[in-house]
Amino acid sequence: MEKKATYIVFEGMDGSGKTTQSKLLKEFLENQGYSVFLFSEPTDNEVGKLIKSRIVKEKTYSPETLALCFAADRSIFKDEVLLKALKEYEFVIGDRSFFSSLVYQPLMGLDYFWIKELNRFVVKPDITFILDISVEEFMKRRGETDVIFEKKEFQEKLRKAYLELPEKFPKDLFFVINGERKIEEIHEEIKKKVLLYSS
Ligand code: ADP
Ligand code: TYD
Repeated sequence: MEKKATYIVFEGMDGSGKTTQSKLLKEFLENQGYSVFLFSEPTDNEVGKLIKSRIVKEKTYSPETLALCFAADRSIFKDEVLLKALKEYEFVIGDRSFFSSLVYQPLMGLDYFWIKELNRFVVKPDITFILDISVEEFMKRRGETDVIFEKKEFQEKLRKAYLELPEKFPKDLFFVINGERKIEEIHEEIKKKVLLYSS
């Protein structure tokens, strides 16, 4: 594959600012004259839509079925869209990636190495930003005042699993970003890291 793009991924728990920061980065890079392709996972293909309808509304899928769906969505997207985008654009930005599967699915009781194996064929990002917020901030942004214990515990585990990712992938480039600061401040830091990487 003649890849041209710098492939950047945003990861982090729900509400950590991935959508906000990926859009800001796209805008900034486009203003600099670069071509940018932005996508999010679950994607908009049939499997992505199936996942969204099942996890949001019906919750009928078992953890293993969900894991297979996330991997299938990603794989179809790679075949149909991602490989082409990586050849044509200067930057490709992903709001979530296979790292989400490696963090969320084991917390649903599945074997980490099985998930890793399922995702063996993914395109690895050049840079991954992990937007890190505390569970208290997560609850605040979600507007949840009476906190259900399990939910809080799940988010604590999620945060920990995210922070362990760089150790699990020592050859990959990660930046853990403090996501509790002002939106503009976070954007500045991300911008600088991206420009430095591509200079
Ligand atoms: P994600 O895509 O990770 O779920 P979003 O970018 O959609 O997160 O942000 C979730 C919510 O938090 C939105 O209402 C957004 O406006 C708000 N938000 C994003 N970044 C910050 C920040 N740095 N400080 C305070 N609120 C933020
Ligand atoms: P998303 O639509 O990104 O939700 P949000 O905008 O709130 O971050 O993702 C939906 C949910 O799916 C989210 O809770 C994370 C989860 N998820 C996984 O469990 N595994 C995966 O591989 C992906 C991509 C997402």
